[in-house]
Amino acid sequence: MADDLKQSSAATVQRNLLTIPRLPDGSPRYARGWHMLGWSDEFETGKPVARDYFGQRLVIYRGEDGQVRCMDAFCPHLGADLSAGTVKGNLLQCAFHNWTYDGSGQCVKIPYCEKIPPKARTRAYVVKEINETVLAWHDHEQGPPDFDILPLEEYATAGWTKAWHRFKITIKTHPREVMENTVDKGHLLPIHGYNVETWLPVWNGHMCGELMWGTHTRLAADVQDDKLYVRSISHGPAYQYTWQTQDSAQFDSIILTAWCPVDENTLEYWFGVIVKADPRQFTPEMLDAAAQGYCKASYDAFMEDVYIWERKLYRPTPMLCANDGPIAKLRRWYAQFYTDRAEVDNSQYRNNNQDWTIYDLRDRQARVLAAQEAAKPAKTVTA
Ligand code: FES
Ligand SMILES: [Fe+2]
Repeated sequence: MADDLKQSSAATVQRNLLTIPRLPDGSPRYARGWHMLGWSDEFETGKPVARDYFGQRLVIYRGEDGQVRCMDAFCPHLGADLSAGTVKGNLLQCAFHNWTYDGSGQCVKIPYCEKIPPKARTRAYVVKEINETVLAWHDHEQGPPDFDILPLEEYATAGWTKAWHRFKITIKTHPREVMENTVDKGHLLPIHGYNVETWLPVWNGHMCGELMWGTHTRLAADVQDDKLYVRSISHGPAYQYTWQTQDSAQFDSIILTAWCPVDENTLEYWFGVIVKADPRQFTPEMLDAAAQGYCKASYDAFMEDVYIWERKLYRPTPMLCANDGPIAKLRRWYAQFYTDRAEVDNSQYRNNNQDWTIYDLRDRQARVLAAQEAAKPAKTVTA
C-alpha cells in the first residue's frame, strides 16, 4: 500500500468525532464491559503503574495478596497522581501528603488528621485476571459487571505453547472500527486474502461470533483448495477469542485480541497467540518458533486493517450491499455497550440462525470440529 498517505487529516478526525457515542454533556462515552489493561506480568507486586484509558489517568497496582487493583489516579485531596505513590501491603499511599487508599478507592488513613472526610475516595474498578491478562470493568453508570468472561480452557494446558506470543500497538481510531471489522465479510479477500465460502454469524446478549471457512490465498497459496477454519467469539465490546485451523498447517492456533480506548480517537490493542501441534513432529522449541512466526505474520496482516482504519471516514449510514456481512446488525449490537442498562433491549440481538448458536461456538467444540471436518475437500487418492 502507498506509503505517501498519512493518517487522517485533522478535518477527517473532526468529522469522525461528530459521530462517536457521547454523554449528554458532550464528552465521549466509553463502552460498558471488560477491557484489557495489560498482560499480567506488567503489574509487579508493590509497583504502581500509570495508564491512560477511558479518557483519564488510572493507577493500577498489585498488592501483597496478589490481587490487582485499579482506580482513578488523581488523589481526591489536592490532585496528585497516585501512580507516583507507594504500595503499602494492599494499600496505596499518595506521594504528596501520604493519604492512603484501599483497593475500593476509600481513603483509610491521613497521617496528620484522625477524622477522614467521608467523600475522601476515588473511583475504583472491578478487576479480574484471566489467561495472564488483567481486565477492568468499565461502566459509565458505575454498576457491577453484568456479564463474565470465562478463561480460555486451553490456556496453559498440555500440548499448547506455554504463554502468549504477543504484541501490542497503539491505533489512532475509535474501537467501533475494530469491532465492525469482525463482521466485515467483504474485506476478507481484498485485505487478508481469505476467500470465504461459509459464514455463520451468531449473536446473543453480550456475545457475538462467527463460524467460517474458506480458502486462503496467502497463508498457503501453493496448496490447492487449502482451507482455513475460523471460530471466533467476542465477549462484550473489547475481548475476543479466535480458534483457527488450516488443512495444510501442522498446528492449530488460538488468538486473543483485546483493546481499550485511551481517548476518543486512540486505542491500545493487544494480540496474543498460542499454538498446538503433534508433539511427535514438533519439539517445544520448534513450536515456540512456529508461534513466533505466526505472531509476526498476524501482525503484518493486522497492520493492513490498521492502515485502513487510521485513514477512513466513519459512515453512519453506509451504502451497503447484500453480501457485505451483518454490519448494520453489528452496529445495533455494539450500541448496547454505549446505552444505559435500563434501556438495553437484548431481544434484538438474539440469534437468528436456526442451526447454530453462540453457545455451540463456545461450548460444543466437538460439533464445530465435525462441521469443519465435513467441509474439508475430499482427498485425491493417486494410485
Ligand atoms: S494530593 Fe494526595 S495526599 Fe494530598
Ligand atoms: Fe480485518
